[in-house]
Amino acid sequence: GKVAVLMGGSSAERDISLMSGSGVLQALQSQGVDAQAFDPAERPLAELKSEGFKRCFIALHGRHGEDGTVQGALELMGIAYTGSGVMASAIAMDKVMTKRVWAAEGLPLPRQVVLRRQDCSPGRIAAAVAELGLPLIVKPPHEGSSLGMTKVEQASQMAAAVELAARHDAVVLCEEFIAGAELTCPVLGEGDAARALPVIRIVPPAAGYDYNNKYFTDEVKYLVPSGLEPALEAEVQGIVLRAYRALGCRGWGRADLMLRARDNKPFLLEMNTSPGMTGHSLVPMSARAAGMSYEQLCLHLLSQAAL
Ligand code: DAL
Ligand code: MG
Repeated sequence: GKVAVLMGGSSAERDISLMSGSGVLQALQSQGVDAQAFDPAERPLAELKSEGFKRCFIALHGRHGEDGTVQGALELMGIAYTGSGVMASAIAMDKVMTKRVWAAEGLPLPRQVVLRRQDCSPGRIAAAVAELGLPLIVKPPHEGSSLGMTKVEQASQMAAAVELAARHDAVVLCEEFIAGAELTCPVLGEGDAARALPVIRIVPPAAGYDYNNKYFTDEVKYLVPSGLEPALEAEVQGIVLRAYRALGCRGWGRADLMLRARDNKPFLLEMNTSPGMTGHSLVPMSARAAGMSYEQLCLHLLSQAAL
């Protein structure tokens, strides 16, 4: 039956989703799948049903795409879709809620202070800095692709960082900065059958990893194999699998972590349930290192589409 590649959408990551979706669409069509692009920002989702689509490849990122809302609509329409279901998608879209679930599992997390938008007084901001130390990370808990995120080096930058994050979200997440390497690790599958792909080590330029260099420059270096000792690579993959299962993810996902330089201890930052599939994206890079081409990855994910 006909497959819709859901792409675009109305989130702040729309442009990234259009890049992911066109890659996926081209790959599926090249493998003989009857796939068409479908942008929920341009047409009502109900047309999926009236036009006879049987399955969806979700290449949407962020709100109304990665957060369980589209997943719920597809459930109601009886159309199978790639990736996690409603609950895992909704929790993973919220970095604060995700960390509550992970904390209950005893998974390693950076310390955090959560501020409410209406409650970001200079006193509370100062208390967050005192609690977490500098530098620290300020981010909106429901965004992706580093949107609205700041690495705060000096207390004087805090007010602007909080204000920027609060433009995206009603709550602002302030996180301990873990000095060390940025890692990411994809997972494929579900439950006991889930398996981790190779870890990628991200080496950003001195100014850091951000929205622009994540997608639009070649300043970031990606190491896969990661160069970690095999035991450490396996430890990271084990933590990521526990994190994935704790959220009840299915199909695929990609956890982002920091590896603390002073003791090689991994800390989980977040789980992406609809990871990027652009030319700069990480799941395709890791899959390729494991011997799976971009086309094979897309076909595999589509074959796992479920209700
Ligand atoms: N949020 C972007 C798309 C990613 O994690 O790949
Ligand atoms: Mg993300």
